[in-house]
Amino acid sequence: MRIDIITVLPEILESPLSCSILKRAQDKGLVEICIHNLRDYSPDEKHKRVDDYPFGGTAGMVMQCEPVDRAITALKEQRRYDEVIYTSPDGENFTQPVANQLSLSENLIILCGHYKGIDYRIREHLITREISIGDYVLTGGELAAAVMADAIVRLIPGAIGDEQSALSDSFQDNLLAPPVYTRPANYKGWEVPDILLSGHEAKIREWELQQSIERTKRLRPDLR
Ligand code: ADE
Repeated sequence: MRIDIITVLPEILESPLSCSILKRAQDKGLVEICIHNLRDYSPDEKHKRVDDYPFGGTAGMVMQCEPVDRAITALKEQRRYDEVIYTSPDGENFTQPVANQLSLSENLIILCGHYKGIDYRIREHLITREISIGDYVLTGGELAAAVMADAIVRLIPGAIGDEQSALSDSFQDNLLAPPVYTRPANYKGWEVPDILLSGHEAKIREWELQQSIERTKRLRPDLR
C-alpha cells in the first residue's frame, strides 16, 4: 500500500508517521508513506505561494487550484489511486468501517486542507472523498491525515505483532473492548478479576464478551 499526503506543513506529519507501528510498517515494506510539500508545486517560483484571497470578499485565504492540481496530476501520472481524499470538517465521518475499507486500498492520496479551504473546483473535479475526523475544527488537515494514516496502516496484515488484536479492537464489531490487566494480580489491594486467573478459556471469553456488551451499553449506547 502507498499513501501520498499533500500538505503545506510537512513538519507536522513527520513525527507521527516516523515512530512506533507506522515506522515499523514502513520499514517492513508493508506501506510507503510519502509526504509532499504543496509549495513545491507552486507556479510562483519566487515566493512559492499556494493561496490567495477568496472571491466575494470574505475573510481568510483559499488554497489555489493550480498547485493542488499540479501535485495530484504528478502523482496520478505515476500510478492509479483508489481515492483522492480531502480532509475537511464537512466530510463524512471517519469511522472504523471507513478505516477498514481504506486499508484495502492499493494507493491513496490525502490532501490536507488549510486556511479557509481549497478552491471548490478542486473538490468538484479532483477529490473523490471528503473525510472529517470529528465534529470540531482543526487548524489544518495534517493531524486528521495522521489520524487516518495511523488507523488505516495498523489494519494492514503484519503491521501490528498480533493480527488478532486489530480484529478484536473496540469498534470492530460495534462493541467497546473489554478491560485488560497485567501483572501483578494484586497491586496495592487492587485486584484483577478472579475469572482472568482461573485458566478457563471459554469462561474468560464469555466474561470478556459480557464486559464488552455492558461497557458499550453504559458508555456508548449509540453504537448498538
Ligand atoms: N480540518 C479541519 N478540521 C478537520 C476535521 N475535523 N477533520 C478533518 N479535517 C479537518
